[in-house]
Amino acid sequence: MECAVEGIIETPHVEALEILLQGLCGVPKERFKIHELCLKSATNLGSVSSDVRLLCDIEQPIPTWTVRHVGGAMRGAGAEQISVAVRTMVESKASKNVLRFFYALGYKLDHELLRTGFVFNFFKGAQIKVTVTSLHKMPKVHATEEAIPVTPGIQLVELTAPASADNYSEVVAAVSSFCEYLAPLLHLSKPGVSAGVVPTAAAAAASLMSDRGNKTL
Ligand SMILES: *[C@@H]1O[C@H](CO)[C@@H](O)[C@H](O)[C@H]1NC(C)=O
Repeated sequence: MECAVEGIIETPHVEALEILLQGLCGVPKERFKIHELCLKSATNLGSVSSDVRLLCDIEQPIPTWTVRHVGGAMRGAGAEQISVAVRTMVESKASKNVLRFFYALGYKLDHELLRTGFVFNFFKGAQIKVTVTSLHKMPKVHATEEAIPVTPGIQLVELTAPASADNYSEVVAAVSSFCEYLAPLLHLSKPGVSAGVVPTAAAAAASLMSDRGNKTL
């Protein structure tokens, strides 16, 4: 299982977010460039959604593949009350013929994206991963070199942390309290529940940038 929240930030404020995250977690960011292929099962057996995502890290000298399936979020009165999604997630490393393998199983390519950005991975009450992504679409199948931004002025921020049935309330608490630190810049909520941009973001970003200016003097 994992706990997840997401939000959006305007591109001009991403640098301020990066400074804030760097200060909060004290680890360097890692850049990524991932080609994501979203597959759907053509034979729709049962009611269980069978969407699968294949992620190819094209930044590596030899591209590496990962298969990911994100399940539905936990439901019920308790789940409604918390502002963090608790969902199942299955992820596995795969070999480079994984796409052919899924085609052979009857999956079809639904859409593909290029994700570029950076990630901070650190421990703050839970193993938290904050990913800031610029989403790109491809004009032609697999044409990652020709990718164009989907929303040039907006980037996606995702925060996830691994959890289990035994410890998710602890992880939810750690994620929620970390979100508080980012609140002046962005509003994080359950995936799919868009909260829009934060009106204070420009002022908060300006103040973060000027703080940094003072420190370097
Ligand atoms: C919660 O459990 C998951 C899965 O076992 C583990 O990866 C994670 O580190 C745990 N988190 C905490 C805060 O104990």
